[in-house]
Amino acid sequence: MSTVILGIETSCDDTGVSIVVDGHLIKSNVIASQTSIHNQHGGIVPELASRQHIRDIMPVIDLSLKESEMDITDIDIISATYGPGLAGSLITGLNAAKTISMCLSKPFYGVNHLEGHVYSAWLDQATGPDKQIGFPIVALIASGGHTDLVLMKDHGIYELLGHTLDDAAGECFDKAARILGLGFPGGPEIQKTAGEHLSDFHLPRAWLPGTSNFSFSGLKTAVLKLAIDQNVYPEDSSKLDKKSRDNLIIEISAAFQESVVDVLSSKVIKAASDHRAKGIIIGGGVAANLPLRERINQLSPIPTYIPVPRLCTDNGAMIAAAAYYQQLRQEPWDLKLDINPGLKIYDIVH
Ligand code: KG4
Ligand code: ZN
Repeated sequence: MSTVILGIETSCDDTGVSIVVDGHLIKSNVIASQTSIHNQHGGIVPELASRQHIRDIMPVIDLSLKESEMDITDIDIISATYGPGLAGSLITGLNAAKTISMCLSKPFYGVNHLEGHVYSAWLDQATGPDKQIGFPIVALIASGGHTDLVLMKDHGIYELLGHTLDDAAGECFDKAARILGLGFPGGPEIQKTAGEHLSDFHLPRAWLPGTSNFSFSGLKTAVLKLAIDQNVYPEDSSKLDKKSRDNLIIEISAAFQESVVDVLSSKVIKAASDHRAKGIIIGGGVAANLPLRERINQLSPIPTYIPVPRLCTDNGAMIAAAAYYQQLRQEPWDLKLDINPGLKIYDIVH
């Protein structure tokens, strides 16, 4: 008998609803993106995000059911993200899930968003030699709000190896893109702008030797300084013609991306070796970055499991996948579960 799980994700600026069978087979995965709303402001405006989730949640649930060609009564388990994230955003998805669970009398599972990013590696559309991922696994979760390196010892058991001491990697991509006058979110913009270019500039790397921690605030400051020195920032004070300015933006984007890729990939590979990991997972929006994916694949002597780019960014399928493995080992959650905006990766067991 297969288990059909509805996964709802509304922790930030995407309303994601997916139907996943047995933790890996995606029947539908609908995402209403708010990028065009937040783009105008150069970053996420929490108030606008929460209002848009309220508008989108019901149509996205309906569309996800329609695309799966299933009826709501076919769903066995309802799951939703309860943290970390923006309070006003989390509450919409969590309440929708609890309401559906109550109306259908079907079990409800609350999912840690960060654990969801890890479990996107179990979805069929993740690359990797097979789905029998052996433990322990080193997982890098690099998103707009987090950069965590964890040792996953078994399903649902995590040890935090390191985290960012200041900005998250995705946040740094977003800020660098803003300095360079590129769009939001910054990660895909920087990747597109940098292309395959090898930059003549060298930006700093915070290695923080002897630890698995990260720091990106120095890199952000270095990008700003370089952009000012090269007359790229502020944009309207530029003494440059368009072609020279565009070339410099490519140079700085490539140098920036190379610095982030170098640090993230080196630290993941080192941690995997130190902890004798049997596999490496990368997840979160920054894991969509093609040079990062290629570098980790090149450097890793052990199997890597990397979701396709659209499953690295926020989606409901990863929440359903995490809920599937949760329900194999624990009872459903009480419907009194509240949002937890500051939830950590190791705060999993209830
Ligand atoms: O996981 P995610 O969708 O949302 C959060 O949980 O934060 O991650 C969003 C972050 C943004 O900062 C975005 O700029 C970054 O992921 N991102 C990328 C790429 N695609 C998204 N960063 C680098 N390269 C990409 N291709
Ligand atoms: Zn995320």
